[in-house]
Amino acid sequence: MRSTWERRARLYDLCEGSDLRRGVHKKALFGRILGRTLFLAVGTGIDIRHLPVGPLIVAIDISRAMLEKSRIRAEAFAGNLHLVQGDAMGMCFRDGSFDTIVTSCTMCSVPDPARVFKELHRVLNPGGRLLMFEHMRSRNPILGAVLDLMTIVTRRGGTEMNRHTLSTAMEAGFRVLAVESIFLDIILAVEAVKDDAGGRQIRQVVCPDWSRPSLPREALH
Ligand SMILES: C[S@@+](CC[C@H](N)C(=O)[O-])C[C@H]1O[C@@H](n2cnc3c(N)ncnc32)[C@H](O)[C@@H]1O
Repeated sequence: MRSTWERRARLYDLCEGSDLRRGVHKKALFGRILGRTLFLAVGTGIDIRHLPVGPLIVAIDISRAMLEKSRIRAEAFAGNLHLVQGDAMGMCFRDGSFDTIVTSCTMCSVPDPARVFKELHRVLNPGGRLLMFEHMRSRNPILGAVLDLMTIVTRRGGTEMNRHTLSTAMEAGFRVLAVESIFLDIILAVEAVKDDAGGRQIRQVVCPDWSRPSLPREALH
């Protein structure tokens, strides 16, 4: 899996660096960053420009080639950003090291998202925020099936288009506070909290009724 990303680093910006990246939404989501922050899977660093300059941010990625590319953008960034090579499925950070964790198109790419969410839960402070900009499987049967079919092809490049990322986050113990639809119920901006007190309510769902994300039913109470 790591070698896939080493290979993809070369042409990543060319293939994935377009305006389709929804910079305005990412800036708004990343604007909610508070305190010590982990940026999970920084890739070539295209999204560094959307990060706030105040907080201490540690950005990790498993791929050395991706990190090499991101170095130029990290150096141009006015904030306090540190790049670290690491595997999201087993990170070197102590329990409760971070106040905020940010992900951007990461959960489609890691081999075992459940394991990653467990790690994120461990390294996040109680009460800490998880801010995710992620694409996932649609609950619309036709769109869901299309994403299943697309995954047969994209999986070869390390990308799964049909994951149930929101449910997996909740199963790992995150309480979802807000979900904003960026594109139907496929690309979502999500704010969740590590809240050991329990409770699974969503405070705010900003998307058309028909495209409501595929949430476990109890989440919508
Ligand atoms: C689709 S890219 C997204 C990169 C960046 N966030 C962006 O939006 O451009 C997925 C990234 O996840 C990284 N990755 C895959 N598996 C990983 C793992 N187990 N731990 C850390 N990073 C991983 C890849 O190296 C790659 O940079």
